[in-house]
Amino acid sequence: MKIAIIGTGYVGLTTAVVLSYLNHDVAAVDKDESKLTLLHEGKSPIHEPGIQNLLEEVWHTIRFTPSMAEAVPDAELILIAVGTPPKKNGEADTRHVEQAAREVAQVCLPDRHYTLVVKSTVPIGTNQRVVEVVEEVFSGRGIRGNVSVASNPEFLQEGLALQGAFYPDRIVVGANSDKAIDTLRRLYQPILEQTFDPPSEFPRPSAYHLPPLMTTDPNSAEMIKYAANTFLALKISFINEIAGLCEEVDADVTEVARGIGLDARIGHLFLRAGLGWGGSCYPKDTAALLGVAAQSGYKMPITEAARTVNFRQRERIVEKLRSVLHTLEGKTIGIFGLAFKPNTDDIREAPSLDIIRELLAEGAIVRAHDPIAIPNARRALNETHEIDNRLHFIEDAYELAYDTDALVLVTEWEPYHKLELRRLAKQMKTAILIDGRNVYSPEEARTAGFHYIGVGRA
Ligand code: UGA
Repeated sequence: MKIAIIGTGYVGLTTAVVLSYLNHDVAAVDKDESKLTLLHEGKSPIHEPGIQNLLEEVWHTIRFTPSMAEAVPDAELILIAVGTPPKKNGEADTRHVEQAAREVAQVCLPDRHYTLVVKSTVPIGTNQRVVEVVEEVFSGRGIRGNVSVASNPEFLQEGLALQGAFYPDRIVVGANSDKAIDTLRRLYQPILEQTFDPPSEFPRPSAYHLPPLMTTDPNSAEMIKYAANTFLALKISFINEIAGLCEEVDADVTEVARGIGLDARIGHLFLRAGLGWGGSCYPKDTAALLGVAAQSGYKMPITEAARTVNFRQRERIVEKLRSVLHTLEGKTIGIFGLAFKPNTDDIREAPSLDIIRELLAEGAIVRAHDPIAIPNARRALNETHEIDNRLHFIEDAYELAYDTDALVLVTEWEPYHKLELRRLAKQMKTAILIDGRNVYSPEEARTAGFHYIGVGRA
């Protein structure tokens, strides 16, 4: 199938590479010159496990172009995967989606049918707005045009994007047109029926079941995306709230999560207590959902509480440091992990940023490490020279520990799990370990000489 994908961010590029691997004929459009330069050289502008190798495998078959006129007219299906950044009031800004739809409609041929699919995460009602935008352009061009608009929310997780694209739990399509549903079913047929040969890096999981294609109306599809992310966000906030109480009553939240997760109605996933969620999705999507609700004058106290609990986790870690070190002024704190989660260099809304800013504000010296996110964090944090003097990025984890007053594990990167704790502790001025993700065994950390403090652990 001939496809045009608008936007080559996490969603657009992953989709382009995967659909091309499935033998679709893909043209990807992006206005960002620097991204296009990299893509034309066969280099991925995003860090995502497996994407570089898969891009190299399909690179000669994908066209990357800044031109809608080159990609759209002979496509059967057009996917919009552009960003919907938050506005000042938290609502999602759909300007780029509308603009993409407008530009698509400007180059559609009058005698062809197109399925225009919105993959970006958008407020409820956006698909309807896209229909209006397309009709406005067609009437301006004096043509009738033939476009079916559909919602196809994306559920990819950063760090697991390709795995999730090849082996999704479900595919959701919201459309009022049978033709659009049929086109999307044909698009995803190799995934729905698992007829493709898995790439060597992404073997088919042994227990994997064929994913259902759920069809519904566009508004419900848009709501499914927000509701899914908000539910996961509040599941994490719930266990973090329980973790705080565990600390008060001397219980262990990892045991509590294990015990409640065994109930099939609850399930064990997304019950890892710690520093909570960051990234480009939960913070933005929960705020956007509250924005949608506010427009209707509807209150969502559960969603609000999930956000409050989440951001409190960051403050609580700094409080723990304060309580063991008495003052942070002049103290040297080591930070392990800057990315909002492992296997990505994405630092958007990362807990590390808030924690580092607070430590610097209280006069601490910060030594920070991350396997790949240092350049992004440096850009985000090096705002003033004064801060620059007290913020150091260190490439080696053991070197980072040297002469520090405390270490804080912020992101649970795999290499941190394997650090020699005894060696770390020996390097430090005072061997204090705040484990913001409950990665280490408290007993092992204490045996290694640490004063160990986890999240919700006795
Ligand atoms: C999330 C959803 O999982 C995807 O399904 C969705 O498509 C995506 O948002 C999106 O809307 O684009 P993502 O933000 O990449 O994906 O990452 P998650 O793996 O969901 O983790 C989000 C945050 O929650 C991370 O900061 C992680 O450290 C934290 N988390 C996760 C916990 O604190 N505890 C857990 O048990 C699980």
